[in-house]
Amino acid sequence: MSPEEPVSPGRKLLLAAGGACLLLALSISAPVARGQPASTTRIDSLLAEMTVEEKLGQLAQYTGQWATTGPEASADQEALIRDGAVGSFLNIYGAEETCRLQRMAVEESRLGIPLLFAYDVVHGFRTVFPMPLAMASSWNPSMARRAARVGAMEASAAGVHWTFAPMLDVTREPRWGRIMESFGEDPYLSSVMARAGVEGFQGDDLSDPRTLLSTAKHYVAYGAPQAGRDYNTVDLSRRTLREVFLPPFRAAADAGAASVMAAFNEVNGIPMHAHDRLINGVLRDEWGWNGLLVSDYTGVRELIQHGIAASKAEAGVKALRAGVDVDMVSGIYGDVLPEVARDGRLDEETVDRAVRRVLRAKHRAGLFEDPYRYCKPDREDANTLTDEHRRSARRVARESIVLLKNEGDLLPLSKDAGTIAVIGSLAVDRRSVLGEWAGAGRAEDAVTILESIRRGAGPDAEVRYAKGAGVTSTSKAGFDEAAALAREAEVAVLVLGESYDMSGEAASRTSIDLPGVQRALAKKVYQTGTPTVAVLTNGRPLAVSWLDDNVPAILETWHLGTEMGNAVADVLFGDYNPAGSLPVTFPRNVGQVPIYYNHKNTGRPPAEKDYTSRYLNTPWTPLYPFGHGLSYTTFAYDDLRVSTERVEASGEVGVSVDVTNTGERAGDEIVQFYVRDSVASVTRPVKELRGFRRIHLEPGEVETVTITLGPEDLAFYNRNGEYVVEPGYFKVFAGGSSRDVIEASFRVVGEPHRAGVARGGKAE
Ligand code: BGC
Repeated sequence: MSPEEPVSPGRKLLLAAGGACLLLALSISAPVARGQPASTTRIDSLLAEMTVEEKLGQLAQYTGQWATTGPEASADQEALIRDGAVGSFLNIYGAEETCRLQRMAVEESRLGIPLLFAYDVVHGFRTVFPMPLAMASSWNPSMARRAARVGAMEASAAGVHWTFAPMLDVTREPRWGRIMESFGEDPYLSSVMARAGVEGFQGDDLSDPRTLLSTAKHYVAYGAPQAGRDYNTVDLSRRTLREVFLPPFRAAADAGAASVMAAFNEVNGIPMHAHDRLINGVLRDEWGWNGLLVSDYTGVRELIQHGIAASKAEAGVKALRAGVDVDMVSGIYGDVLPEVARDGRLDEETVDRAVRRVLRAKHRAGLFEDPYRYCKPDREDANTLTDEHRRSARRVARESIVLLKNEGDLLPLSKDAGTIAVIGSLAVDRRSVLGEWAGAGRAEDAVTILESIRRGAGPDAEVRYAKGAGVTSTSKAGFDEAAALAREAEVAVLVLGESYDMSGEAASRTSIDLPGVQRALAKKVYQTGTPTVAVLTNGRPLAVSWLDDNVPAILETWHLGTEMGNAVADVLFGDYNPAGSLPVTFPRNVGQVPIYYNHKNTGRPPAEKDYTSRYLNTPWTPLYPFGHGLSYTTFAYDDLRVSTERVEASGEVGVSVDVTNTGERAGDEIVQFYVRDSVASVTRPVKELRGFRRIHLEPGEVETVTITLGPEDLAFYNRNGEYVVEPGYFKVFAGGSSRDVIEASFRVVGEPHRAGVARGGKAE
């Protein structure tokens, strides 16, 4: 250490802690510069000092428990820390508790290796942002980046180093409750959001104590459970795996995601926690990703229930060999594997490989430089739920709202609309606005929809409330009161949907209709003849055909977080012009599932005649297509053109379209570009999203929007599994949804070209 170099508080402590000799050597003899990867030789020398128990301890992760004052470690877990038999915790946060435990690890364990604290910051920490599916509705990666950034600021100030987000499971399954955590059905949009999430959490320098190590989860295809039942079997083609489910993970890996989490499901007969080919093979060898792979909660132990391991020992060995470095909560790596390793049934190299990755993650987080850099109580106070964070949350929430229908321009409401009847228990549900996976969010911080409508309405308006019915209630006892209120009002705002706990993990539903008697309530209110607006708040696409057929205005507001109420009122009263677009198709009923825009054409495409791919009782089309979302203004698309009509397979083609704001208000529009390979050696989807821009236009303003399509946008896996662009005709489409598009075409000429990058890796 040079005389000029300041001694960080962490180093002082290390110097004071005589026992922590090896870490001391690591820190003092060659301080690692900020942001530089750990020196392999130094990690090797630490490794050389470790017993097999200490090594496997680094791979063990346990969960904290909730005590009256907050999350904490148990007495048994404290003993593990002192023994150097645990490497990380999840579900423990708070500057004080994390500091206390860190001090125990650094000062009282033999080698003084710091702990990692992990937490699910899925859509915010204390300031809760829109649920990810809502965030994807903004089609604005800078919003996802901002949400992750704020989450990182707050969580890191509470001593957290590592988050289990972003969640990157593409899904076509609205029955699956975890759809709320996803960015929807499209691999391209999900990839753009994946990159933004990783960048937001990690920043430019992981050792900056305001950043978090991010985790791309759940690797892979967790979003395709049979029958939409959580944790269920996944059985899909290699093509679908490569083209639909892997791209967001590729994007996250390319963006430098520090870790990846294995998924609970199997893929084609092999549980992901033992899927050597997809973990070591694809993720590490093929993509060159070298981060830390963590199991999901008890995922290692579940190899026994999956039926591919007869004992904990076998499960542990299989998982570790497949590349699962950290065992979250199963207790197998820490408790069972030491004996297995001592017996020679587990080779040291496999263990060391995983330990190196854990130590490298600790190094990247800057913990060997200063183990206490994250847990600073004053920083925690200054960074939690600040006004600026709330403002960001409101901005993201407004951008996430989707106007599904607005007949006769019923919306926006006049602030002096007279009496506004707000009906539905979700209008006052302070917890549900946060949605599932609400981090360290608290209901008491949140703004309800009713409160904000009251605040947003003008002095001459009267806002009155009736519950009507509970979310899942079967009682119609409150209907008359609600109808009477609506009858006396100038406008009725029905707040309908799902409570927060009806989506998220282990929250699958076989019906995606409005729960309970909410549809009947809507009918009762509608029949009063008072103009009615439906505000939907839910964690999944809902089948709301009746509303669409009858109610003139419908807003999809999802679960938008701490600032939900304000964002909804901003849109209802026109202080903000909504522009969100659906990142997922809305079916007419559950029988249409799976229904998604990037489907194949089939040999008998659906048409209004017999023996085509359709239903007898329901149209084949969705209720609302992918990309759908209206505005209080209107937009026209003209003159879609390509820069060249013939392009080499290795070349690029520019695609431009003129977009005009033809209405009377300023507004944002999400300009979407799709591609179709008209004839190829294998069947191709009817459309695939390949670019988008969210633009702002004043009334009458025109903007030309251009994207460039390169080989990675036109390629697909051919019959030999090669990622190629084939010569032939391509169509391009541009428009305000996947349905409402204009089209142009071009031709790829010459020899087939092998594209280097799998789709989704491209920056927006
Ligand atoms: C979930 C993960 C989550 C983990 C830790 C699991 O049940 O599947 O998404 O990160 O718990 O909370």
